[in-house]
Formats: sequence, structure tokens, C-alpha cells
Amino acid sequence: MSPGKLVVAIDGPAASGKSTTARLAAEKLGYIHVDTGAMYRAVTLKVLRAGIPPDDRKAIGGLLRETHVALRREGGVTRVLLDGHDVTEEIRSREVTRSVSIVSRHRAVREAMVREQRRMGAEGGIVLEGRDIGTVVFPDADVKFFMIAGIESRARRRAQELRTKGAEPDLDGLMKEIRERDSLDSTRKESPLRKADDAIEIDTSDMTIEEQVRTVVDRVRRIAEGRA
Ligand code: DC
Repeated sequence: MSPGKLVVAIDGPAASGKSTTARLAAEKLGYIHVDTGAMYRAVTLKVLRAGIPPDDRKAIGGLLRETHVALRREGGVTRVLLDGHDVTEEIRSREVTRSVSIVSRHRAVREAMVREQRRMGAEGGIVLEGRDIGTVVFPDADVKFFMIAGIESRARRRAQELRTKGAEPDLDGLMKEIRERDSLDSTRKESPLRKADDAIEIDTSDMTIEEQVRTVVDRVRRIAEGRA
């Protein structure tokens, strides 16, 4: 049975398992997947390339007027386009990761990204993942999840991801970076990372990817069936 065309929000801190779960759950449901973190990363890449300090609100506001971020599905993979150029790999660099929480604090950046995310989700049939989807972007989302995990599992996951790219990450350094990003993301003034009151919390510390995906997909299907 087709699971209708719901809006599914998945929020949570860095490396909590959101991206993989959201991508695979969207595939199973036949939904679009939107990694909103990738959009903030693309803006950050442009800021760094332009030599603008990540905390320069005014210069970033100006730059945004000539910035276009888009996600395009190609051969089963989502490509991230910045002003028409593919930046899927570059946005995962350490430099971008270090600056993205600063750039995404600016109100102008958030407004531009949220506008685009709402446009993408207007027809439903979509899984959006990020920090503020269930609280700000789609406060009326049909299903909301909030994924959390212990700091060590999160650092191990990030290390594993980096190893597949040939890096040799240091676990303590990664834990420090994740903690810093959590702190910046949860204490900022504009739409901080926060669990929506009606979100279902999933602690992924001891869950396999399959279990995480099943939890999301089963819940979405149940809600869609209840409405059919
Ligand atoms: O999910 P990620 O680690 O790729 O996200 C990168 C950063 O983007 C994250 O540290 C904060 C920001 N972000 C945000 O502010 N709001 C979102 N909805 C998604 C990401």
C-alpha cells in the first residue's frame, strides 16, 4: 500500500544517524529525501570560497542574493548544486564542517533555506532532515522524529564515514568537534536545535541502521493507513 504523501521531519544533533536513516526510509516509502544540512553546507562553502568570515552577517546577506542551492537526484544519489555546479563532495570537507554552525546562525541564511525547504515540501511525500524541521520549517509535519545517540557512538560513526574516504580520524578530536557543533546549534538565537513537543524520540546508540529505518517507515505507514 502506498504510504500517502506525508511530510516527515527528522531532527537531531550531528552524527545521530539522521542522514542515512532519512535517505533509506525515503527510498522505502517512495518519498523525496531532503538533507537540509547539505543546503547550509553549500552556503558555507560559498562563504569560505569568497573569503568572507563566517560571522560577517552583512557580507553573507549580500552574497545570499546571488546564491542558488539545489538538490538533484541522479542515478539514486542526491547531488548538491551550488549556483549550478556540483559541490556534493566539497561540502563534506573539514573546513566546511568547522564553519557551518556559524554561517547557519544568521537569520538571512535561515530564511532563505527555510523558504526553499517549504517550497520543496509543499506537496508532501517527503522526508526532511535537519535541526529545525519539526519546530520551524514544518511545525505541522505529519510525523516528527528526534534522533539522539551517545557521544561515543556518534564519534565512532563519523570516524567510520571519514575512514571510507581515506582519512585517519582521531576519536577524541571528533568528539570535541561534535560537542562544539551541538553547543552552537542548540544555543543559537534563530531556530535552535530542539526536540518538538510532539516528536518521537529515537535513541540510536545501540540500534542498527535497519532498525532505525524500520522504526521510521513503520510509523509513517501506520499514520498514512490511519488516514486512508
Ligand atoms: O546535518 P549536518 O551535520 O550536515 O548539518 C550541518 C550544519 O548545518 C549543522 O551543524 C547546523 C546546520 N543546520 C541547521 O542549522 N539547520 C538545519 N535544518 C540543518 C543543518
